Amino acid sequence: MKPLLSTFMLIQNLIVILMTNNKLHATHAHDLLGINGGGFSCESWLLGVETNNLRGWKTVPRGCESFVRQYMIGKRYGDDSAVVVGEAEKYARGLKLGGDGKEVWVFDVDDTALSNLPFYAHRGFGARAYNKSEFDVWVNKSRRTALPQSLRLYKTLLSLGIKVVFLSTDFKHDRDIISANLRKVGYITWEKLLVRIHGVKLSTISFKSSQRKELQQEGYKIVGNIGDQWSDILGTPEGDRTFKLPNPMYYVN
Ligand SMILES: *[C@@H]1O[C@H](CO)[C@@H](O)[C@H](O)[C@H]1NC(C)=O
Ligand SMILES: *[C@@H]1O[C@H](CO)[C@@H](O)[C@H](O)[C@H]1NC(C)=O
Ligand SMILES: [Mg+2]
Repeated sequence: MKPLLSTFMLIQNLIVILMTNNKLHATHAHDLLGINGGGFSCESWLLGVETNNLRGWKTVPRGCESFVRQYMIGKRYGDDSAVVVGEAEKYARGLKLGGDGKEVWVFDVDDTALSNLPFYAHRGFGARAYNKSEFDVWVNKSRRTALPQSLRLYKTLLSLGIKVVFLSTDFKHDRDIISANLRKVGYITWEKLLVRIHGVKLSTISFKSSQRKELQQEGYKIVGNIGDQWSDILGTPEGDRTFKLPNPMYYVN
């Protein structure tokens, strides 16, 4: 009778432990999924963002700030970016180059080549976190880090003989800041660093596609194009193949 009783108690304890654990897991998963007040999961919101079904959003939805933080500073953002870059490298390695050195790969700058994550990680990911003047001061100090996966792609492309063109919607007066920051984090050389001329009022899509068109007119062949915004990769000519890095922090029209 005694061994049976203790076995029973052991099993009972196990059940209690398992239930508590499950409850902990459930709470944890709930946080990670960020089921917010709006009744949708932040995972669903993220999928909508990445597929460009949700457009023109101004800020991370209320209730998804901690989800976005977890996504960005946890492992997931790096993992998702690595899938994009892994595919880009596989594609690049399979290319037959013409031998004339005219193949280029277009990189967006913000949150593609250079990461603003340290700023947002410090300030937060919701509407009230962003302060343009503080952001500008921060950017001017070359505080942007390299997005590690993009830097890896950059190095792979150079080793293959594909040249890199950086294409930013920042203005001409920011050009020196961008190039200093690029060099500081390991982007040591490039074919071109294209920025906006002050006063030119074009949408990102119009500006970037017109710059890509000029590249083609100069005889370059755009074999690849990578950005964190759909506006980096939409609009003709978009390049032979486009790659979209994740970015649930902000949306650029
Ligand atoms: C943004 O930051 C600057 C500098 O710290 C501060 O003076 C300004 O009041 C802030 N603006 C807002 C809207 O919080
Ligand atoms: C950042 O640097 C640019 C170029 O030097 C300058 O025009 C701008 O005023 C600076 N902005 C801030 C906030 O320091
Ligand atoms: Mg960008």
